[in-house]
Amino acid sequence: LREHEEFTKVKNIATIELGRYEIETWYFSPFPPEYNDSLNLYFCEFCLNFMKRKEQLQRHMKKCDLKHPPGDEIYRSGTLSMFEVDGKKNKVYGQNLCYLAKLFLDHKTLYYDVDLFLFYVLCECDDRGCHMVGYFSKVIYLPFAEKHSEESYNLACILTLPPYQRKGYGKFLIAFSYELSKKEGKVGTPERPLSDLGLLSYRGYWTRVLLDILKKHKGNISIKELSDMTAIKAEDILATLQALELIQYRKGQHVICADPKVLDRHLKAAGRGGLEVDVSKLIWTPYK
Ligand code: ACO
Ligand code: ZN
Repeated sequence: LREHEEFTKVKNIATIELGRYEIETWYFSPFPPEYNDSLNLYFCEFCLNFMKRKEQLQRHMKKCDLKHPPGDEIYRSGTLSMFEVDGKKNKVYGQNLCYLAKLFLDHKTLYYDVDLFLFYVLCECDDRGCHMVGYFSKVIYLPFAEKHSEESYNLACILTLPPYQRKGYGKFLIAFSYELSKKEGKVGTPERPLSDLGLLSYRGYWTRVLLDILKKHKGNISIKELSDMTAIKAEDILATLQALELIQYRKGQHVICADPKVLDRHLKAAGRGGLEVDVSKLIWTPYK
């Protein structure tokens, strides 16, 4: 059995075509067996149905009437739009998105049970339609685990498609997940484990957000206050500030010591801020 498992985990699909991009894949993804013999897959960039041959895709594009992800547009600013797709209402789309995402996600188990997820799909829109840039998923509820939803993971999986990476979209998606948490009145944290790139992106985001606040804020501020302002979980704030050596331990308590010179040094070293989420353009109420 083990051997079989190892064998099937070998990367299967080498490249995919999606919209105007041909993309080399990174990891194995468990497509249905009838796709086992294909090296290339052709995706409809709107409904995410996938096909083995280019002609099939061309035929499909003539009759597919989607021009954006199937769901509610909850954010639009300039050419950027975010769509909320309910996995329960759009099972096939959700499954297709998971197959696609797994090609770039190493250790994540693929959830076939897309019923439990909301997918937030970020698009760049033009007159041909809304082209997917990346997405994150979020669990709607965990059965039997009231406590968990209080603790509240605010993100399950995050992906920026390779042609769009390193342009600030990842930090945009992360920022968006925290804006949703703020609207829910909860703090949030991503599901673990994080990939290397996921960790880098989160660290970058946390660092930038916290430094900006500390820089502006006069006087003392506690981790709890920072958490209330940002919806970032206290543990993640503590770990970030510890890594920046901005925490001292006094009389059994963690105290933030934000020396202005140290802050400036860190701010210079911190990466670009990423694309901003304009909260006034977010029209959303928590899932009921
Ligand atoms: N090399 C070094 N640093 C990197 C790299 C890289 N290739 N990619 C991102 N980073 C770091 C940088 O610090 C970067 O900030 P900077 O450009 O200001 O220096 C920061 O991460 C984020 O950059 P963004 O442009 O905002 O992020 P991007 O759009 O590239 O998306 C993401 C980041 C989503 C992690 C992307 O790399 C990806 O999809 N990877 C594959 C899937 C994955 O690993 N997802 C996370 C799994 S964990 C989870 O899902 C809970
Ligand atoms: Zn289609």
